[in-house]
Amino acid sequence: MSLPQTPPTAGPGGDVGAVVVLAAGQGTRMRSATPKVLHRLGGRSMLGHVLAAAAPLGAARTVVVVGSGREMVTEHLADVAPEAAAVVQEQQLGSGHAAAVALDALGEVSGAVLIVNGDAPLLRAETLSTLVQAHRDAGAALTVLTAEVADPTGLGRIVRDGDGGVRAIVEERDADPATRAIAEVNAGVYVGDAAAVREALSRVGAANDQGEIYLTDVLGLLVSDGRPVGGHRADDAADTLGCNDQRELADRRRTLNDRVLDRLMRAGVVVVDPMTTWVDVTADVAAEAVLQPGTQLLGATTVGAGAVVGPDTTLLDTEVGEGASVVRSHVTLSVVGPAASVGPFSYLRPGTELARAAKVGAFVETKNVQVGEGSKVPHLSYVGDATIGRGSNVGAATVFVNYDGVAKHRTEIGDHVRIGSDTMLVAPLTVGDGAYTAAGSVITEDVPPGAMAVARAHQRNVAGWVSRRRPGTPSAEAAAAAGGAPADDAADTRPAQSEGGRHAATAGDDDHQGRR
Ligand code: UD1
Ligand code: CA
Repeated sequence: MSLPQTPPTAGPGGDVGAVVVLAAGQGTRMRSATPKVLHRLGGRSMLGHVLAAAAPLGAARTVVVVGSGREMVTEHLADVAPEAAAVVQEQQLGSGHAAAVALDALGEVSGAVLIVNGDAPLLRAETLSTLVQAHRDAGAALTVLTAEVADPTGLGRIVRDGDGGVRAIVEERDADPATRAIAEVNAGVYVGDAAAVREALSRVGAANDQGEIYLTDVLGLLVSDGRPVGGHRADDAADTLGCNDQRELADRRRTLNDRVLDRLMRAGVVVVDPMTTWVDVTADVAAEAVLQPGTQLLGATTVGAGAVVGPDTTLLDTEVGEGASVVRSHVTLSVVGPAASVGPFSYLRPGTELARAAKVGAFVETKNVQVGEGSKVPHLSYVGDATIGRGSNVGAATVFVNYDGVAKHRTEIGDHVRIGSDTMLVAPLTVGDGAYTAAGSVITEDVPPGAMAVARAHQRNVAGWVSRRRPGTPSAEAAAAAGGAPADDAADTRPAQSEGGRHAATAGDDDHQGRR
């Protein structure tokens, strides 16, 4: 099997012809039905992080060796790196076998091949390009990335000779006590001459404690052949950390988050509580934005200069404009315009777009709605499938009744409209510019510009009802004290106010009393 050749682009390691990611292992210690490399941190899968680190090398081809959970991994790959090809390793016979399967699939490789474990989510592009640079400068046949770590448990040890030259990589379970005492470990990242690696792999046996074909044995074989082999120490040992169980995944996630927050704070972002602030590597925050405690910025979220997000706010794939504020809210796939405000306690679902200085206040749910400049939905409302013009106000407890049980319908609200509190706007519906609706109305017909729509029962007051029907209660006593004498049984009153007198609702900013 040969993979399609894509045109090479020059990268910092311009001579890397192919990238191989080893991702066929089961990851038993994760104790999860999800293949290990698909576990997520900082907005990407582990595999996604490795591919992102390798991408700037500009290799012509990238292959990912899949095995355990291959369908899931292949599907994910098509999503995050469609230019990469999945190569199946039918049986997981070891990392060396996986590399051989990949090289078979690649066929001829022009330049070096970078082989990397799929479970190294903290690997950075800079680290890979320095490794490739060191490899090229040394004219080596193979260069392995290494790190000095405090706890090398479980990792392959780098055995060097008296001159500091790398002699072998010895897996911990095959190591004697002296070798186990070595603190320099194999990061599972290798750059080598493709032909030399391929040839050496054909000679690797499985005479080790696990009975597996180890990629690490290639290094010793090349040393025996007298080929130049190098070990390049990573500047930051964290880059080399693998991830084998949920504990390590949580640690890697924390480290990644610390790196992201460091970068943001250096750029002028105010992070009030780094311990409880989580920002994906794919999110971006401008200088002088403030992230309050308990904030999560996920996916492609961006936050503009001077905006305030949090406390306790989650934004996914959301754009927050300059000077906006989002407080104690959950926002997905939405746009919060400059100087707009959201919350506390609101839920903005996909397709919500707030223009400049628009407001969605407390306990409001929105979906697929455009709110025009300066318009407000201050309290306790559901707004779905709608367009709201400029300078309009939606009174408290208004519901955009968008669903008839079968289909969704749209509501169009014009500019400078006043929707009364507790209005049901039954879509499809258009409310013209400057129109009002009376509080408590169920609006089923279009409202022309400038009209007041009233759709509710008239009020009648049954005088003396309390003293007759609730005698002896505190209410009756209070009524009597207020001079509310019992009236005739039949006594009703007609509405005290004329049409238009007390119908209108939320005329002013935040006034939800239904009285104007
Ligand atoms: C490996 C290295 C070890 C290094 C460590 C760094 C070997 C023999 N050892 O150990 O020296 O210190 O990484 O984290 O390589 N894989 C396959 N197919 C297989 C077996 C493994 O694709 O048949 C993949 C795994 O998915 C993984 C990588 O190869 O991404 C390494 O395998 P793993 O079993 O995790 O090796 P470690 O014991 O961690
Ligand atoms: Ca591993």
